[in-house]
Amino acid sequence: MGFRTKQIHAGVTPDPTTGAILTPIYQSTTFVQESVDSYLAKGFSYSRSGNPTVRALEKKLTVLEGGADTTCYGTGMSAVSCTMLAFLNAGEHAVISDVAYGGTYRLCTKVLTRFGVEFSFADTSNPADVKKHVRKNTKLFLTETPANPTMKCSDIAAISALAKDAGAVHVVDNTFLTPYYQRPLELGADLSLHSTTKYFDGHNATVGGAVVARTAELDEKLRFIQNSTGSIMSPMVAWLTLQGTKTLAVRMDQQSASALAIARFLEQHPKVLQVAYPGLESFPQHELSKRQASGFGAMMWFEVKGGVKAGKKLMDSIGVWTLAENLGSVESLITHPVTMTHSAVEPAERKRVGITDGLVRLSVGLEDTDDLIGALDQALAAV
Ligand SMILES: Cc1ncc(COP(=O)(O)O)c(C=O)c1O
Repeated sequence: MGFRTKQIHAGVTPDPTTGAILTPIYQSTTFVQESVDSYLAKGFSYSRSGNPTVRALEKKLTVLEGGADTTCYGTGMSAVSCTMLAFLNAGEHAVISDVAYGGTYRLCTKVLTRFGVEFSFADTSNPADVKKHVRKNTKLFLTETPANPTMKCSDIAAISALAKDAGAVHVVDNTFLTPYYQRPLELGADLSLHSTTKYFDGHNATVGGAVVARTAELDEKLRFIQNSTGSIMSPMVAWLTLQGTKTLAVRMDQQSASALAIARFLEQHPKVLQVAYPGLESFPQHELSKRQASGFGAMMWFEVKGGVKAGKKLMDSIGVWTLAENLGSVESLITHPVTMTHSAVEPAERKRVGITDGLVRLSVGLEDTDDLIGALDQALAAV
């Protein structure tokens, strides 16, 4: 079956009691057992350990990524945290993309180091740099590709091979492209991680996370940590995400087509210093993006001439675009990573990895492309 058929039908069946076409929101703490001996006969006991609405979403995501199973979480950060807890012990080491989402960087540097876990931040767009950071005690690699917000892309197959050699798990944060455009497990990764807050939801309605595992054993380790720490997704969030996922491919195709048109418009604009969008021939990893993904997505950044002052003026007065954190939604969003999404990253580290003070991040939504370009044109004329 094709992706669009799977995104609608995988994991869900009409409700056997009523025929309801949508999976009900099973808003129930506990599940009644018919007898002690038939405990768990219907698969559920207590909603921290499993819930039918959440399970439907887990099954759908498993099919879309081509994995063995999926665990869903209350947020993307909860998915990252549980993954770290499941595969790293005190005294062990992980190699992380040096331009990962700011929250991931904060979790590693400010929280997990307190428990004796060691981290190196590597330029994962260069597998040789990743290799340099591998130690005897390296047990996990986390690659965010494309990375938030620099859009830097990393070779998933090459880093998976390094992880395999090191006897470590390779986690790919696949939030920006989703399995519609990029399937890390098929490229050799062990886990594909998502903030479902973004494209799976797609409507700015929820926060959630998911990890799709290549094998049942990997999933089992995650599920144990998830149940132990209580890091679950709520049935309501799972239900909203189930509905959002049914239109994932059509949204992403339209958003990506708009994004390419916007990137081309910005690239030729005299007031724009530079634009980073994987679909542009000028993008450093354009060829890699074409090779390992079937689409370029709808995220980009650009820098206006005139630095931070000009960038802020543009972001404060940009019509149909909305100044807000988040990405992947039907609403087009404009973000200043330095003050918003990546404020947790120290200024020197931001500078080192290319998150400049004037960087403006765009998440292209579903409005008419002409309206989005028109608003950018007007705002650029005003700076
Ligand atoms: C690439 C990436 N991973 C993880 C996260 C964390 O997700 P959440 O905000 O759902 O906790 C984000 C959030 O922006 C992100 O962009």
